[in-house]
Amino acid sequence: MYFGVDYYPEHWPCERWPVDADMMKEAGFNTVRLAEFAWAKLEPDEGAYDFSWLDKAIQILTEKGLGIVLGTPTAAAPKWLMNKYPDMYPQNSCGRKLGFGLRRHYCFNNENYQEYTKKIVSEMARHYKSHNGIIAWQIDNEFGGRCYCSSCHKAFIRWLKGRYGNIENLNNAWGTVFWSQTYKDWNDVIIPLSYFGEESQLFHNPSLLLDYYRFSSESAVAYQKIQADIIRENSNLPITHNLMGHFSEIDYFNLGKGIDFVSWDNYPNTQWGKSSYKEVSMAHDLMRGVKNRNFWVMEQQSGPCGWLTMGDTPEPGQLRLWTYQSVSHGADGIVYFRWRPCVFGREQYWHGILDHDGIGRRRYDEIKKTGAELMSLKDLLFGAEVAADAAVIKSYDNVWSHHIFPNNKEFDYNKLLMSYYNSLLDNNINADVTCAEADFSKYKLVLMPAYGIMSEGLRVKCEKFVSNGGSLLITFRSGIRDLNNCMTTKTLPGEFRELAGVELYEFDSLNNGRKVNVNGYFWNGTSRMWCDVIVPYSAEVLAEYTGSFYAGKPAVTVNSYGLGKVYYVGCDLDENAMKSLIGFVAKEAGIKPVIEHKVEGVEVVKRIKNGKSYLMILNHNNMPIKMLIDWAYKEDVLKGEHIKGEINLDAYGVAILV
Ligand code: GAL
Repeated sequence: MYFGVDYYPEHWPCERWPVDADMMKEAGFNTVRLAEFAWAKLEPDEGAYDFSWLDKAIQILTEKGLGIVLGTPTAAAPKWLMNKYPDMYPQNSCGRKLGFGLRRHYCFNNENYQEYTKKIVSEMARHYKSHNGIIAWQIDNEFGGRCYCSSCHKAFIRWLKGRYGNIENLNNAWGTVFWSQTYKDWNDVIIPLSYFGEESQLFHNPSLLLDYYRFSSESAVAYQKIQADIIRENSNLPITHNLMGHFSEIDYFNLGKGIDFVSWDNYPNTQWGKSSYKEVSMAHDLMRGVKNRNFWVMEQQSGPCGWLTMGDTPEPGQLRLWTYQSVSHGADGIVYFRWRPCVFGREQYWHGILDHDGIGRRRYDEIKKTGAELMSLKDLLFGAEVAADAAVIKSYDNVWSHHIFPNNKEFDYNKLLMSYYNSLLDNNINADVTCAEADFSKYKLVLMPAYGIMSEGLRVKCEKFVSNGGSLLITFRSGIRDLNNCMTTKTLPGEFRELAGVELYEFDSLNNGRKVNVNGYFWNGTSRMWCDVIVPYSAEVLAEYTGSFYAGKPAVTVNSYGLGKVYYVGCDLDENAMKSLIGFVAKEAGIKPVIEHKVEGVEVVKRIKNGKSYLMILNHNNMPIKMLIDWAYKEDVLKGEHIKGEINLDAYGVAILV
């Protein structure tokens, strides 16, 4: 179990470093992440590298038994470099060049930036390659942002040549005959700039847009590889990058292929909003799904957070609860952001474990206690798997395609995935959140909501999964488009038609507050966005519309296919209806809830270690609860108490039951 903190020794006098190291040890930490924004201190002038201060900090920390995760500092390039090559600044889609003063102020495709990246990363990797206090590398920090500069334009054309071979193929794939957009030459191809306001970007050819989003994502992946290759030439240590949960401008499944383990930054409650516990759990499950392996939280919230204003101060018990939530979903490493809040710079109010005066109070005590608990249970917790019989499938192509064509003002692909994930959780069913390349055979139920961009290959994979007895759930806006983001000419739901045993006769995008009621066999619900009018040809009807001109027509169906079943949900549904529907679908698929009893706001995660399963129960409510427990669980290992069919949990309490 890795348990640690993000630390910025460059922000404090070196006389303080030994005090911090002692306090970290005292808190039970064994890990520290360093240096990911320190380029200007590591190379104050071009070619004049200075690792002496970092060496000293590392020495002080490692002497106390703390392992170092070393960040490459490329997320914050120094001013001397930006002065020398101002073309390194990224440009937004409105054509505006960004400037100095924030961070991430570089373009992934700028060749000079790539060269200077190679230099600093090589120097660092060579300098620290035989240091046995380093335990892992972090590349850069939170990749993100699309750039529209001339370097990107050139790189995009190169990327398109690789994808399409010749310009005719591109013209055919993109349908450039529309509005006389036909390109004669590669150099004619444009990038999708916003001509009148940011929104207007979406008026461009949808195939151009999707390819540009793919290209931007692959630019980050390629830039990460430049750094990973250099580190690997020098070191066998594992490499990570800190991802951002639900952030969807980069295809995390591709980014994940270039690193050894995933880590991510988890801030449940900041200036920018409070996430529901389900949103956080889904982000954890997605981060686990990137490599279908356990992960780390590289920045775990440890205090009140914000840049201008602050989110609520975490209440007593919440930091502990969030830590256990991370662990329960597969975090083998917890690193808190940050040790001590800064007294200068934009993030003075982004609190850490200590306060500005360097004193550890309630938050320090709570984290220390949590660490001691985690370490005492590390054999049970570290490397345990989440027992998931269901998988929600996410596709970044589909995120981008639905962004380009939401079809309805209220439609948001990520939110639709979340509504399905939430209804699994509401039924006490654990899920993986992963990609379509995952091995479906380990699941009883696979949910592919609004899988719009569909390929023949994936259809064959789905057929095999269902034929062998799996249950598949698809929804409205599934199978509608090809890989070029063009509409299919197949009768909808396109590639899914035979599997689902239905055809769409027509559909209705609901606007201006219109609602359509849906009557299911076991529930009644309401659609607010979308209704497919379904004609089943081999499927059975599970629900029908009771309103609008298609009253009496099917809304939800199920088709038997081989040994399995395919559910087609033709409309969006309210929370209660979704919960009932998913409860029914999961039961039919042979999935048992991890626990029978459901208490609102209480999450139960079933984990498996060495063939033995156990439960982690998390009370996200700020009041105590009582919960009925299956008699098979006999002990609460956190309290060291025997249990007999029920437990009591404090506000924000946690139980681990074996
Ligand atoms: C994270 C970032 C950190 C810090 C924090 C607070 O997203 O990785 O470096 O900036 O936010 O803003």
